[in-house]
This record gives sequence, C-alpha cells and structure tokens, in this order.
Amino acid sequence: MHHYIVIFIGIFFVNVTHSGHTTKHFSKLYHPGYSTVGNLNVPLEYDCALRAFIIEMARYIAPSSSQAYWIELSQSAFQMNQCNNTSIAKNAWKNRTKSFKIAPEIKQITCYHRIFVHGFEGNDMFDGTFERPKKTIQAALSFTRTLRATLDSDKILCITIRGGTYYLGTNATTTSSQIGAIALTVNDSNLVIENYQDERVILSGGTLLQLKWSIHAKTAAGGTIMKAHIPSFVNLNQFNELYIDDRRAIVAKYPNGDPSTQGLYAKDPGFSYGAKSWVSPSVNPSVNIHVDKPYRNGTVFTNYQLGIGGGASVFNPPRNFWSTASPTAGRNYVVPRGFTVKNGALPQISNWSKPTTGFVHAFHPGYWGSWVFEIASVNSTKNEIMFGRGGFQEARGSHSGGAFYVSNIFEELDAQNEWFLDKDTRTLYFMPNETMPQVFVASQIPCLISISGSDNKNSASNILIQGLIFSQTSNTYMKDYMVPSGGDWALHRGGTMYLTNTKNITITRNVFTQLGSNGIALIDYNDATSIVLNEFVWLADSAIILVGSTNGIDGFSVISQPANTLIQSNLIHETGIYIKQSSPVLISVSRSISVIGNLMFNMPRAAINVNDGFYGNHTLSWNVIFNTVRETSDHGPINSWDRQPFLTDAVQAGLPSLWQHKSYIHHNTIFNNYRCVWPIDHDDGSCFYEDSYNFLVYGGKKNYLGHSKTDHHEIYVFPDANQSGFINSTCLRDTAAQRGSSGWNEVWINNTCALFKSSVPYHIKGCDTSDLFVPLLMSNQIYVPSGTQVAFVCKVNGTTKRLTLKQWNSYGLDLGTTINTTSDVQDIIEWGREMLQQAE
Ligand SMILES: *[C@@H]1O[C@H](CO)[C@@H](O)[C@H](O)[C@H]1NC(C)=O
Ligand SMILES: *[C@@H]1O[C@H](CO)[C@@H](O)[C@H](O)[C@H]1NC(C)=O
Ligand SMILES: *[C@@H]1O[C@H](CO)[C@@H](O)[C@H](O)[C@H]1NC(C)=O
Ligand SMILES: *[C@@H]1O[C@H](CO)[C@@H](O)[C@H](O)[C@H]1NC(C)=O
Ligand SMILES: *[C@@H]1O[C@H](CO)[C@@H](O)[C@H](O)[C@H]1NC(C)=O
Ligand SMILES: *[C@@H]1O[C@H](CO)[C@@H](O)[C@H](O)[C@H]1NC(C)=O
Ligand SMILES: *[C@@H]1O[C@H](CO)[C@@H](O)[C@H](O)[C@H]1NC(C)=O
Ligand SMILES: *[C@@H]1O[C@H](CO)[C@@H](O)[C@H](O)[C@H]1NC(C)=O
Ligand SMILES: *[C@@H]1O[C@H](CO)[C@@H](O)[C@H](O)[C@H]1NC(C)=O
Ligand SMILES: *[C@@H]1O[C@H](CO)[C@@H](O)[C@H](O)[C@H]1NC(C)=O
Ligand SMILES: *[C@@H]1O[C@H](CO)[C@@H](O)[C@H](O)[C@H]1NC(C)=O
Ligand SMILES: *[C@@H]1O[C@H](CO)[C@@H](O)[C@H](O)[C@H]1NC(C)=O
Repeated sequence: MHHYIVIFIGIFFVNVTHSGHTTKHFSKLYHPGYSTVGNLNVPLEYDCALRAFIIEMARYIAPSSSQAYWIELSQSAFQMNQCNNTSIAKNAWKNRTKSFKIAPEIKQITCYHRIFVHGFEGNDMFDGTFERPKKTIQAALSFTRTLRATLDSDKILCITIRGGTYYLGTNATTTSSQIGAIALTVNDSNLVIENYQDERVILSGGTLLQLKWSIHAKTAAGGTIMKAHIPSFVNLNQFNELYIDDRRAIVAKYPNGDPSTQGLYAKDPGFSYGAKSWVSPSVNPSVNIHVDKPYRNGTVFTNYQLGIGGGASVFNPPRNFWSTASPTAGRNYVVPRGFTVKNGALPQISNWSKPTTGFVHAFHPGYWGSWVFEIASVNSTKNEIMFGRGGFQEARGSHSGGAFYVSNIFEELDAQNEWFLDKDTRTLYFMPNETMPQVFVASQIPCLISISGSDNKNSASNILIQGLIFSQTSNTYMKDYMVPSGGDWALHRGGTMYLTNTKNITITRNVFTQLGSNGIALIDYNDATSIVLNEFVWLADSAIILVGSTNGIDGFSVISQPANTLIQSNLIHETGIYIKQSSPVLISVSRSISVIGNLMFNMPRAAINVNDGFYGNHTLSWNVIFNTVRETSDHGPINSWDRQPFLTDAVQAGLPSLWQHKSYIHHNTIFNNYRCVWPIDHDDGSCFYEDSYNFLVYGGKKNYLGHSKTDHHEIYVFPDANQSGFINSTCLRDTAAQRGSSGWNEVWINNTCALFKSSVPYHIKGCDTSDLFVPLLMSNQIYVPSGTQVAFVCKVNGTTKRLTLKQWNSYGLDLGTTINTTSDVQDIIEWGREMLQQAE
C-alpha cells in the first residue's frame, strides 16, 4: 500500500523543546453575584489584608508564565474590589519579586518519529508528515502501532496535533467512562501526544450539532422557546450535557439558576429550601464483614469492617463501609425514598407531563455532600416526589435531605439558557436570550483518553500528554459509584482521562474545562504519574481522583494502588458543579502522594481529601487554598479520615502492618472562609501526620478520635474569629480524647497562635489537672487581645478554673510558651511572609 512505502522515508529525528503552553486561557470567572467571601467577624481592613496576602502567596507559587493569570483569577474570586476603601495598598503583592521553585520542566523529549494530525487539512490516507498530516488522532495512533512493529519498543513516537476542535464524541463507539475515545494500551508505551507549538487543540467529548431551529412557543414572561430535530447519528443516552459557545448550558430546572455559577455560596443559590418531609428509607441489611484479627490496638477504629450486598447494592461493587450494622462513629447507610414539598415550593408540579424524565439534586441534611435521584413518580395533590435510582453519590446516607433542585423536566424550561431534550421525539428545546447562539455541542462520551496496562507487571509506560484542551464530555452522576474506603466518599471510578496499570505517565500543560465527569482518574496500579502545570475548571465532579484497591484488609500482597504520584503547580477551581462530595484532589487507598504548589479555590467541599489511612507518606505542601467548603458543612480545606485499617508495608519494607507511614502537611497557605471549620480537618481517627509551617487563617488545630499528630511551627491567625457557626474554634481543640484509644501522642509545640477576641487558647474536652490527658504542649507563642488575660481552662479540685500561664506551667504544661498581646494584622502577615517566602 502506498502509504506504507512513505513511512520509512518519513522517519527522522527531531529534538523538541516543547513550547506548547496551551494555557492560552479562556476560562475567566463569571459571577452572577456571589455572597461575600469575607469574614464578617473581623473588620474588613483585617480581612482584606489577609486576602491580599493569600493572593501574594498565589503569585509566589505561580509558574512564571501564568503569574498574571493566577493573580487576576484570585483577585476576582476573592472579590478584592470590596477592599478598595481599606488601607491595604491595592496590588500590594505586585512589587514582590520572590518566587517559588515550580514544577520541574519536562525534560526535552527526543521523538524518534513524529506524526502530524490536522483536522481540516489532514487525510487519514496521508503519511503523517507536516505537509501531509493525518486527519484524525485515531488514525495517527494506528499508524504509530504499525511503526512500532518494526522498531525497538523504547523509541519514542510522537503524535503532534495541529490546532482545531476534534469532536471525539461524533459516532463514538464507546461510552464507557473507563475506555477513552483514544484508548492507549501496553503496546502504546513510549508515546507523546501533544499540540503543535502554541496551537489550540481541543479534544471534545461531544458532537457538533448543525440544527434547523424553529420557534416552539413564547412564554408568558416574554421568552422564546426554540426547537430543533436531533439527527439520528447522535446518541441520545449520552446527550446529557449541552455545551453552547463552549459553556455548559442549563438543563431545565427549578428553582432557576446556573449550577456552574450558582450554588449555596451565591446570593441566589438556585436551590430550594422548600422540602417539608422526607419519605423514610427502607432498611435493607447487608452482610457484615468484621475482621477480628489483625486489629489496630489503641485506636477508636480498631477493626476492618465492610457491608456487602443489601443496602450497599446501589454501589458497584456492592459494598460500603457504612453498610455494616453499626459502623463505628456513624449510622448505617440509607437514603430517603422520596419527599414532599411545602405548598407552592414547586409551583409547576401539577403541570409536569412526564415527571420521570426528571432528577432531584438534594443535599445530605448535614451538608456532608449531595445526592442525585431519578424521579420515579409524582403525586401533585400531596406535593410528593418518589425517587427511583440514585442517592449513591456519597457514602454516608441519611433519613432526610436538605436543599434541593429539580432538573430535566420540560415544563421547567422557562429561563434563558435552559434546554430540554425530548428523547421520544428527538427534539431539542432551548430558550435563548436576545441572541441565538451559534455553536451547539451535544455530549457523547465521558472519557477522552484512557491509558490501560494489563496488570502491574505489564503496564502502559512512558507516555506524555501535553498541551491539549479536554472539554465537553457527558456527565456521569447517574453512572456507577463505588465506596473506595472508610471516608465519607462514594465516587465515580472514571474520568476524562482514565489511567490504570501505568508507569511514568506525565500529564502536563493541559486544560481540563467544561467536563461532565472527573478530570483525571488514577485507578489501581499507577506508579510515578506526574500531573503538573495543568488547569482544571468547570468540572461536574472532582479534578483528580486516586483510587486503589485491596483484597479486603490486605493491601500488602496486592500491588494495585496509585503510588509516587506528583500533582504540582496546577490551577484547580470551579469543581463540583453537580457532585458536592467532590474535591480538586481525592487520595484513597494510595501510597506516597505529593500535592505541591497548587492553587485551588471555589469548590463545594475540601480542596484535598485523604479518605483513609492507607499506607500514608503523603506530602501536601506549598498549596494556596481559599473559597472551599462553599456549599457543605463540618469540614475544611484539607480533610482526612482514618476509619478502616489496612495491611501495608508502610512501617517497614516487607513487613505487613496496620500502621501507616507518617504524612506531611507543610508550607500551605489556607484561608478558612465560607463554611470551613478547620483549616486542616483531621477528622475521625486521623493519625500520623506532621503539620508544620502552615499559615492558617480563621481556624485552629483539631483532634477528633485520632492520635499521633504533631503540629509545630504553625501560624494560626484569628482561629476564634471563625464564622462557620459550627463550632467555636480556638488555637487547639481536642475533643473526647480517651486514654488507650485516641488523643495519645498528640504534640503541639513551637506554634504561633494569634487570638482575635478570646483569651482562651485551648478547648480540651475533659481537661482535669487531677488526671491530665492533653497533647504535649511546649514552646508556643500565644497572642491574646490587648486588655485580656490568657486563661487555660481546666478542672482543678473538681471545679472548672481559668488558670494563668504560671499555674498551667505548674502542671508541666506549656513550658517555654510565651503570652503576648495580639499584634497588628500586618505584623502577623509579615511572620507568614518570613516563614513562607524563602526562595529569591
Ligand atoms: C474597586 O475598584 C475597581 C477598579 O479599581 C472597580 O472596578 C470596582 O467597582 C471598585 N469596587 C468598589 C466596591 O468600589
Ligand atoms: C511599588 O513600587 C513602586 C515603584 O518602586 C512604588 O511607586 C509603589 O508605591 C510600590 N507599591 C506598593 C504597593 O508598594
Ligand atoms: C457519523 O455517522 C453518520 C451516520 O452514519 C454519518 O452520516 C456521518 O458522516 C458520521 N460522521 C463522522 C464525522 O464520521
Ligand atoms: C495495646 O494493648 C496492650 C494490651 O493489650 C496495652 O497494654 C497497650 O497499652 C495497648 N497499646 C496502646 C497503644 O494502647
Ligand atoms: C395522591 O395523593 C392523594 C392525597 O393523599 C390521594 O388521595 C391520591 O390517591 C394520590 N394519588 C395517587 C395516584 O396515588
Ligand atoms: C446570551 O447568551 C449567550 C450564550 O448563550 C452569551 O454568550 C451572551 O453573553 C448572552 N447575552 C446576554 C446579553 O446575556
Ligand atoms: C518517562 O517517560 C518519558 C516520556 O514521557 C521518558 O522521556 C523518560 O525517560 C521516562 N522515564 C523513565 C524513568 O523511564
Ligand atoms: C515516601 O515518599 C517519597 C516521595 O515523596 C519517596 O521518595 C519515599 O521513598 C517514600 N517512602 C516510603 C517509605 O514509601
Ligand atoms: C460559641 O460561644 C458562644 C459564647 O460563649 C456561645 O454562646 C455559643 O453557643 C458557642 N457556639 C458553639 C457552636 O459552640
Ligand atoms: C522549636 O523550634 C526551634 C527551632 O525553630 C528548636 O530549636 C526547638 O528545639 C523547638 N522546640 C521544641 C520544643 O521542639
Ligand atoms: C486543690 O486542692 C489542693 C489540696 O486539696 C490544694 O493544695 C490546692 O491549693 C487546690 N488548688 C486550687 C487551685 O484550688
Ligand atoms: C513575648 O513575651 C515574652 C515574655 O513573655 C517576651 O520575652 C517576648 O519578647 C515577647 N515577644 C514579642 C514578640 O513581643
């Protein structure tokens, strides 16, 4: 065949210095009116000064090519225009020149052979040279496979894509969220897929719709509903997102509001608080697994437990930590079967002609996450909606729910930018504003690129993906969810990029934007993945999920976990548009994960969630985090849990043990606004953490049911001015520590804590000088408001007393600790600057 002859002529060597910084940014923030990001418990002056410092730190960690962009977005997200009239110098951070050592540049890659792809000028019969490019990435890939047959397997082949949009969803044969439109396997090792120079290469999970619109109806409010027929090649089952002019449009919903830019953080949240009562769950017991031995001595969460089948059958696989008969520190997983609303809360309910197309998005009643349910039936006389499938998008469950909205019901199409797809008649309905937009893309697939080795010994390896824009995929919130371990999470085990059984994969300088699923899913064995210098924005679910597996309690003999992952210098924001129990980074059943120097803001729950104590040895450092926990509660910007013990060799190579390796959280800058309670929320059972050199605004240290955590050289700024309303925070809060199970080996030394209005630095539940069981306290610097006397509150001779430092010292506590008067906020910021900005 002709093009085979050309191959060998075409082989050449190219040294590439890749300049493809895709981040020709196009994902500006667009706010419809967020409620204030500020802390109303402190004067605006102070709050603005602290916000300005967070932005200064964002600038400090920013890659030099993105500095202006990171600052601009941070200023906007932080509503810095509120600070115009405060004394902080506008743009105070602009004069600072120091910057952080950012992610290592990817080494120069030598392409043994390069194949060009050009969507407009290419032809799949061409030979793939610059002049005669392939038309599709798939054809280029099959060409590399042909080449590979004649080459040493370690030769690096490059697929270089010219600018344009590649609609990978068109006529896609796979709709699996584990198999990409571009599906790489072991045989595709030593491959580069990249953009050409600075050209914008968009990989779309949708198909471009060329539609003939006509007017369907005018609404009473003066809107116009347009309609168009959807051609037969479009897969309607995967058409669950409509992207118009590169932005996610709104599935017809009530209350109105754009889920991308409105949520519980907005003045107009687009959620209803009109639920009246919830139909109680049906209880369906699971089979309980309880491992008696081995068990973790000296902890609250001693034994490995799991519920299988029964109520856990809504998950795939059908198991859930929370489906045991009585999970430690919690209740059994159930969800309500339906709900009724107050009169008038759903004004159109009696007009719904086909309610079963609809979904209910509802918060958990404690705002720990959200669920989505299909609507099974409606009784509008009773204002009652009964649920079908759903409720598995977080693992805790409950008997009732919280704020909600209803979507995908034709009669709710009454606002600009809303759409509805009538699958029976293949009719798309859409209400434009005064101008009818041009580009309509129907989502068709959730996964764009998969990299799948066969097992950990036959991994797909040495693959570099760079400079691409991933966009416009199908949503996955009604697909399979699973419970990865004993945290609160259930998750969809798939994403826009899906990696399993891989080694040395690098994903860099890409933009993941306007997506229906997670960004990158690292599932099971993935060694030495680097995810650096990417932007993730406008995601329905999480940005990066790491999910390993074990054989029950045994994670020692099963090498099936992400390990040695580097997540560095990424910009991650506007995540969790539909799924509220989601995060920029989720770490579950993984080893030695490093999350370094990322900027993360605007999300419903934590920025980084460590779902379990599997192995440990994680490093979370130099991240700048704000505007987290915007829609949920009882949580923080960094969250950890450890409720389910696993066997690994974390303590000593080759030796199975239920104890993990220490993990490290240092040099992060965290602003604890919205509903954040603890800047580093070491929740149920968390142990073996060393937290140091973090600058933590508006929250203190927490121990809850855990042990063996050390804090040192932390700066806690105004923890007692926390505005979450959940708890009165202070420098340190040790809750319900019990000898022999929790609170042991807790250390709090060499920290600085500036209190805003309180003079009580610690809340140590059960503190009693006759039987002291408190963290090791030493050499701290505590600042109390001027005119107040510090008070260490503890029982003495049976009554609660406020002790002076000297009295407290007399029990051997806080030796070397000093008490001073709280300084000006600018001094506190200077302490942070000195601690965090070391590099020139
Ligand atoms: C603050 O100043 C900016 C321009 O410097 C302006 O756009 C904004 O409206 C001002 N905001 C307030 C609240 O004054
Ligand atoms: C920044 O530097 C310029 C020039 O040195 C100076 O005029 C300006 O006042 C400085 N701005 C701040 C906020 O310090
Ligand atoms: C998709 O399939 C339809 C119907 O088979 C066909 O008309 C169309 O050309 C295909 N599109 C592409 C890009 O292959
Ligand atoms: C472990 O158990 C033993 C006895 O069973 C007890 O003496 C010891 O204190 C326990 N260890 C911890 C850390 O609680
Ligand atoms: C709806 O609820 C009303 C009031 O409880 C009841 O009378 C009616 O039978 C219900 N309708 C259906 C179809 O179940
Ligand atoms: C109308 O909607 C389009 C997107 O559908 C948007 O780009 C445009 O800004 C909107 N115009 C107004 C005036 O809201
Ligand atoms: C990792 O993969 C890259 C290609 O992306 C290659 O250049 C590099 O040599 C590989 N590293 C190792 C240790 O194999
Ligand atoms: C811990 O992680 C680091 C990378 O951050 C790695 O170099 C080291 O080998 C790991 N140690 C263990 C015991 O896993
Ligand atoms: C916080 O402290 C105030 C004053 O001591 C008290 O009235 C309030 O109940 C406390 N709130 C919580 C959530 O503990
Ligand atoms: C406090 O930190 C200093 C160094 O910053 C160190 O010399 C000292 O030993 C530390 N104190 C304690 C109690 O660890
Ligand atoms: C507690 O009681 C002891 C002896 O019973 C007494 O010496 C001591 O002064 C008392 N301490 C306080 C703070 O009242
Ligand atoms: C804080 O107070 C101690 C005495 O308690 C004093 O030695 C130290 O200099 C003071 N530090 C500051 C920063 O004022």
